[in-house]
Amino acid sequence: MAHADHPNLTVLDHPLIQHKLALLRNRDTASKDFRQLAAEITMLMTYEVTRDLPTEPVEVATPLETTVAQRLAGKKLVLVPILRAGLGMVDGILQLIPSARVGHIGLYRDHTSLEPVSYYFKVPEATQSRDVYLLDPMVATGGSAMDAIGKLKDAGISRIRLLCLVAAPEGVRALEKAHPDVPVFAAALDRRLNESGYILPGLGDAGDRLFGTR
Ligand code: PRP
Ligand code: URA
Repeated sequence: MAHADHPNLTVLDHPLIQHKLALLRNRDTASKDFRQLAAEITMLMTYEVTRDLPTEPVEVATPLETTVAQRLAGKKLVLVPILRAGLGMVDGILQLIPSARVGHIGLYRDHTSLEPVSYYFKVPEATQSRDVYLLDPMVATGGSAMDAIGKLKDAGISRIRLLCLVAAPEGVRALEKAHPDVPVFAAALDRRLNESGYILPGLGDAGDRLFGTR
């Protein structure tokens, strides 16, 4: 259900997600566990985000009789992580939807200006006709996600959903203004940004914590 203050946002606050997010936020959680928790939370989020995927009837012979069951229909999904930290969300979805294609958008946030700096863009063929899940654990100012969505739209891609683990209200508002057609799914909506553009309470630098770079 859409958040009361943010019509573009759905917060997926299932108890299992909240529990794992509490562990993820803890500064004493090591990279190995951080990676596993990020994947598990993403997997749990996938259950809700894919709720409206189309299905089609298929005849199946059970050991007892033949019946009509449902299987996924339509074109394969495309997952697009924003490098680096978005990589931490890919495997959680692929475990449930192994046929999904994967593209990559390379962006980093300049530490001083907080503006996104682009360095890579590659999506699978025919992504224009597929549903795209854009992945980034953190939506802070929203600059990186807005830039990535702009690049996808420039490439003719329109069916975009953004999945993140932690969002700040500042970023969610900016996204709503710039891309009101893009639904945002988050495990948590946090309080605000600090003066350095980090999310409070947040979980720190997601890329560094995933890959042990600091
Ligand atoms: C982090 C995060 C987002 C961005 C969020 O990436 O993964 O991409 O910051 O901030 P924003 O909403 O203000 O743009 P970072 O720039 O640290 O790059 P990294 O993933 O390579 O560590
Ligand atoms: N990027 C992160 O990794 N963490 C934040 O809190 C903000 C941006």
